[in-house]
Amino acid sequence: MQGLTTALLSKFSLIVAATSILLLGLLAGVAHGNRLGGISSNAADEPCKRMTVYYHDILYNGENNANATAAAATQPTALSRSVSINDTYFGQLVVFDDLVTAEQAMSSEPVARAQGFYFYDKKESPNAWFSFSLVFNSTAYRGTLNLMGADLMGEKTRDLSVVGGTGDFFMARGVATISTDSIEGFYYFRLKMDIKLYECYVS
Ligand SMILES: *[C@@H]1O[C@H](CO)[C@@H](O)[C@H](O)[C@H]1NC(C)=O
Ligand SMILES: *[C@@H]1O[C@H](CO)[C@@H](O)[C@H](O)[C@H]1NC(C)=O
Ligand SMILES: *[C@@H]1O[C@H](CO)[C@@H](O)[C@H](O)[C@H]1NC(C)=O
Repeated sequence: MQGLTTALLSKFSLIVAATSILLLGLLAGVAHGNRLGGISSNAADEPCKRMTVYYHDILYNGENNANATAAAATQPTALSRSVSINDTYFGQLVVFDDLVTAEQAMSSEPVARAQGFYFYDKKESPNAWFSFSLVFNSTAYRGTLNLMGADLMGEKTRDLSVVGGTGDFFMARGVATISTDSIEGFYYFRLKMDIKLYECYVS
C-alpha cells in the first residue's frame, strides 16, 4: 500500500512538472510573439506581407564565367536520355547564387540573392525540385526567407512553400507562386515569384 502511494505520488509530481514545463513554454512563446509583434493573417486570402520579385538564373555554359550565377553540379543520369528523346536532365543538380530583382530587367533594383539548388526529377519530361534561401541584405530588408517544393514545370504557375525565415522575416511562413517569365535558350531563364506570407512576426 505504502509502495503504491509513493508510486502514485511520484507519478503525480511528474505530471505537475511536465505541465509546468508546457505552461512555461507557452508563456515564453506568447512573450516572444508579443515582443516581436507577432501577426498572422486571419484569412487564407489575406497575406500579412506580399512581394513580387524576379529570379534570374544564368547557367554556366563554359564561356560566361563572369556572368554565370548557376552551374550544373552533377551530370544527368543515363536514365534521362534512355526514356525520352528529349533530354529530361533527370538527376542533374544545379547550384545557384542568383540575382533577384524588383522588376523584370536584370538591371532593375536588386532585392535579394537566391542561394540554393534545384534538380531535375522526372524521367519523362523536364521537371524540377527547388530548395533555396532568399538572402536579403538591403536597407529595406535584412534576413532570409527559406523556400522549397516541387517546380511542376508543365504547369503555368506552381507554388513553393515558404517554410521559414530569419531576421526581418523571423519565423515567416507562406507560399511563393512562381511562373516562368522568360527563357533564352538553355542558359537563362527568369521566374516571376509572387511571395505571400501568412505568418509574420516582424512587421
Ligand atoms: C520532345 O519535345 C518536343 C518539343 O517540345 C515535343 O513536341 C515532343 O513531343 C517531345 N518528345 C518526347 C518523346 O517527349
Ligand atoms: C550586407 O551589406 C553590408 C553593407 O553593404 C555589407 O557590408 C555586408 O558584407 C553584406 N553582407 C552580406 C552577407 O552580403
Ligand atoms: C548575362 O547573361 C544574360 C542572360 O543570358 C544576358 O542577357 C546578358 O546580356 C549577359 N550579360 C553579359 C554582361 O554578358
